[in-house]
Amino acid sequence: MNTLIKSLAGLGLGAALTLTAGTAMASGSGCGTFTNADGVDEHLACSTAPIDFTNKGSLQNGAKIFMNYCAGCHSAKYVRHSRIAKDLEIPPELVEKYLMVTTDQIGDHITAEIDPEIQASWFGAAPPDLSLETRLRGDDWVYTYLLSFYEDPSRPWGANNLVLANAAMPHVLHNMQEELSQEEFESEVGDLVNFMAWMGEPARHDRQVIGFFVILFLLVLLIPVYLLNKEFWKDVK
Ligand code: HEC
Repeated sequence: MNTLIKSLAGLGLGAALTLTAGTAMASGSGCGTFTNADGVDEHLACSTAPIDFTNKGSLQNGAKIFMNYCAGCHSAKYVRHSRIAKDLEIPPELVEKYLMVTTDQIGDHITAEIDPEIQASWFGAAPPDLSLETRLRGDDWVYTYLLSFYEDPSRPWGANNLVLANAAMPHVLHNMQEELSQEEFESEVGDLVNFMAWMGEPARHDRQVIGFFVILFLLVLLIPVYLLNKEFWKDVK
């Protein structure tokens, strides 16, 4: 399948397919409401997450960010480190060295470094498992959520979120956001959400490519079937 996708990408079909993938997954429900400075309730539209499973560089960078910034608190219990190595084309030695922050067995699933129950007593809410988070909330919701932290001294960790009001999660990407330009920060978060979308359904891209060819095959098949139909009924009419 991978070689098929690669040769397709070579034909320039990849871009068209990613486009359909993006529109098909749009999460229509919006990203919450918040009260603006004038006291008026405003609706927050979701930003579109840049999902592209053919972009291995983006997925690899996303994996790096996830393991370094998120796996301390969140597990991703359906994802094995060995699957990351294989699908994201990262040599297993590098996964062991840089990405396995919470275990030393490459066949293990991603577990949180800190016990979720202890965290619940710290933060008031246990950090949910993130394996299927993009399936639950939608890619765009997660992307917008991660871009919507703002300073709020009234909160215990000094940060609040426009999408999830009074979120218990601290703004863990604060330093990254300070160091980068807005554009660079959005690109990093885009890679992170691309990786999270891959975690939620590693076969999504393959499924879409196969679906495209099944439809194409059926359309092509329609031509001989139509002609045969004409041929069969020629003498009856
Ligand atoms: C310090 C611990 C901690 C770290 C590190 C952390 N989170 Fe969280 N996260 C939480 C807690 C606690 C919640 C529960 C928030 C709530 O329910 O208000 C949460 C909630 C979330 C949610 C919302 C879940 C939902 O559907 O309501 C998402 C998405 C999320 N985290 C993503 C991330 C990502 C991505 C990272 C890495 C960049 C990350 N988190 C790093 C503690 C953490």
